[in-house]
Amino acid sequence: MESDLQQILADVEEALPAIESKAQFEQYKATVVGPNGKFTAATKTIGKLPPAERPGAGKLINEYKTRLQARFDEALRRLDSAELAAKVGPPVDVTLPSPDHGPGGAHLVSQVREEICSILRKIGFVVADGPEAETEYFCFDALNTPKDHPARDLHDTYYIHPETRFGNVSRKGGERFLLRTHTSSVQIRTMLEQPPPLRIIAPGRCFRRDTADATHSANFHQIEALYVDKGVTVRDLKADLDYLFRSLLGPDAETRFRPHYFSYTEPSFEVDFRSAHLGKVGSEWMEIMGCGMVDPAVFAEVGYDPEVWTGYAFGLGIERIAMTLYGIDDIRYLYQNDFRFLRQFA
Ligand code: DAH
Repeated sequence: MESDLQQILADVEEALPAIESKAQFEQYKATVVGPNGKFTAATKTIGKLPPAERPGAGKLINEYKTRLQARFDEALRRLDSAELAAKVGPPVDVTLPSPDHGPGGAHLVSQVREEICSILRKIGFVVADGPEAETEYFCFDALNTPKDHPARDLHDTYYIHPETRFGNVSRKGGERFLLRTHTSSVQIRTMLEQPPPLRIIAPGRCFRRDTADATHSANFHQIEALYVDKGVTVRDLKADLDYLFRSLLGPDAETRFRPHYFSYTEPSFEVDFRSAHLGKVGSEWMEIMGCGMVDPAVFAEVGYDPEVWTGYAFGLGIERIAMTLYGIDDIRYLYQNDFRFLRQFA
């Protein structure tokens, strides 16, 4: 009998690996341990043995039954996992590098923003922040901008529906939300929160209702600077701007002030620069930013004593600087997300 059982086990061991589906498996298993199976038939011969041999034979049958069951279980596990693998597809190695792109790089506007901020950090400025959805108070009123100033016009500024809520953005004064037209609003927010002296820069996104062309974009970026202390003069402003432009453009960069008007500074200036370093473009004066000495009316609005405190402020467009530095002749390139363009600066 033992040789029969051995033969059955050997047959099973040989047959199972070739089986490829559960249906095939069940069919085959029935030919071994089903009611008409080979193994079932072998177990039935036990009744024909002399009584003395039956216990030994029973033990043997049990032993082979266990061994067969183990083979069947193993085959079933293999078929189950093959079935699952067929469902989920080929294995994915998540540690392989992406086939699409290499590691990313900072956008040119971000790079230039960081460069300007790091130059200004060296002379003591710290970064301050303010919301892009502002109120008229911070964007205009507190900056001494007259009620009828054209900048407030619907043609120039994006206003937001009055029922829109923006978390807990404070709405001191002005009730209408708008998308800030400049970062100068951060001057007011910072001064209302901190006592003088202070020295802050506020980089960020601004919005104007401009039709996009080579030099205008409805969405652009500025860096605002505000320095408040005792005895600050135009000399400090000029010296710090010279330092900024020399650091950015090289030691031969020059700046020039032209009188201008901004409601929050008095006197106010527009700044031109030039730099032989920039070749042909650099040999002509280029208008680059606005600045001035903080108007006493602004200090009074935020509760700083204008008899004690003095300060300068300036605001510059990041895109303008990036375009000058890299010879880009159309601001729209910066926003088209064309990798062929952006990759050059990454
Ligand atoms: N806010 C002005 C603009 O968007 C730039 C500016 C001018 C900022 C003079 C200032 C300043 O801080 O003092 O055109």
